[in-house]
Amino acid sequence: MSSLSHKSPPPPCAIVIFGANGDLTKRLIIPALYNLARTRLLPPSLSLIGVDHNKKTSEEWAAQLKAFLAQTLTRNNEEVDEALWQQVASCMTFLSGDFEQPDTYQRLKDLLAELDEKQSLNGNVLFYMAVADRFFGTIAGKLGEAGLVTSDAKRFRRLIVEKPFGHDLASARALNACLLKYLKEDQIYRIDHFLGKETVQNIMALRFANGLFEPIWNRDRIDHVQITVAESIGVETRGKFYEATGALRDMVPNHLFQLVAMTAMEPPVSFDAEDIRSKKAEMFKAIHPLTLSDVVRGQYDSGIVGDEKALAYRAEANVSPESTVETYAAMRLSIDNWRWAGVPFYLRTGKRLSKRYTEIAIRFKQAPHALFRETPMEELDADWLILRIQPDEGIRLRFNAKRPGPAMALESVAMEFKYKDYFKQAPAVGYETLIYDCLIGDATLFQRADQVEAAWALVEPVLEGWANTTPRHFPNYAAGSEGPSAANDLLARDGRSWRGIK
Ligand code: BG6
Repeated sequence: MSSLSHKSPPPPCAIVIFGANGDLTKRLIIPALYNLARTRLLPPSLSLIGVDHNKKTSEEWAAQLKAFLAQTLTRNNEEVDEALWQQVASCMTFLSGDFEQPDTYQRLKDLLAELDEKQSLNGNVLFYMAVADRFFGTIAGKLGEAGLVTSDAKRFRRLIVEKPFGHDLASARALNACLLKYLKEDQIYRIDHFLGKETVQNIMALRFANGLFEPIWNRDRIDHVQITVAESIGVETRGKFYEATGALRDMVPNHLFQLVAMTAMEPPVSFDAEDIRSKKAEMFKAIHPLTLSDVVRGQYDSGIVGDEKALAYRAEANVSPESTVETYAAMRLSIDNWRWAGVPFYLRTGKRLSKRYTEIAIRFKQAPHALFRETPMEELDADWLILRIQPDEGIRLRFNAKRPGPAMALESVAMEFKYKDYFKQAPAVGYETLIYDCLIGDATLFQRADQVEAAWALVEPVLEGWANTTPRHFPNYAAGSEGPSAANDLLARDGRSWRGIK
């Protein structure tokens, strides 16, 4: 895992995208490959094969993707750079085929052999499942039966699996078992796109590259941690998906737990993928089993977000008018190990909140003794370290300072580091590092089978409990607010309160 500067291009290979006409391909995969071309990090010899069910020529496929890329770039006042685009477009071949038919895989096998012969790809292939999750098992199985996923010391065969990886513990286990029937664990790259965010990767740099933070990163100095992933958007066009998913499944066992793992895991002995992933798995093991009293669910009502009116969740397209699906979840986690005993981690995520805002806020303990008469202990602000994941990526340290003047009056002030002020950032969609890492075989930023299962196991009792009880008072928060009041009660019980979502 790494930032992409100072990197060398990956080895020659073919990338096969299942779901070549899908949203993920046009919004993220192709723009990421284009950005990799910009940073000269595409493989020197590359074949890009798009597989999907409809019929089109390779030229039509490339033209559609280019048109979409152009639209995206226009929003940043950029145009498609023809020379860069050609590096991607000249590698493209479209293969029309049904994901369920063995014949598709036979034709894919022949095509791969032909392109390898022409382009010396050394037999390396990365298969990308950019398809609905119901196809994951089928595609992996058919690739296996066609003998397409056998790696050896001379060539790699890898598989990228997108989210959602299962919808509960049993389905995640079944999917793992299905993939592991045909592939070895080190061939499987389970993506959590939050780990592609620079600021999430930076948590490791902050913790392990600085002598300053690690000594205070424990129960002695930290009072509690708040992790917020707030979204201002609603379910948009994904009503059908969301009705079967809800906020907990959609965001918690994956994105939020990855943020917890980055913040709470023990230092690994090296930056080797297995060492890091083992430390994360250990951390998941230490999380105390959740009960229904540790969690709060919410659903948005109509309201005003920004300056615009927003519909209630139950009025969104493809959503039942009586839906009991949660669009908000908050919880209190306890991590039962020496570092974190007694330090609660509070997590919250929701749609249609006041702002799009993702942060990890670490609250330090108060000074042990009140020295300042003008500012009594209860009025003294606590020190906070805020890791801003998005937007305005950066780090902010809040601490108390003396207000100028004759009185010894204190005020909370901030020291701030903003990514955009320090680093010139290359345009990125967040998938560049993830795809590059797969191409060089670095699995650090990908989830291992045991991690995925441990995360589902943790939320399982809540999923079951919620499925068996009808939520009272739904909808229970207005669109554009900071979430349901029950989430405030969750912290108030411990004598604490949430930071504002501003
Ligand atoms: C996805 C969820 O995994 O993450 C979406 O399915 C959510 O519901 C999205 O909106 C948030 O990701 P980001 O990168 O926009 O914060």
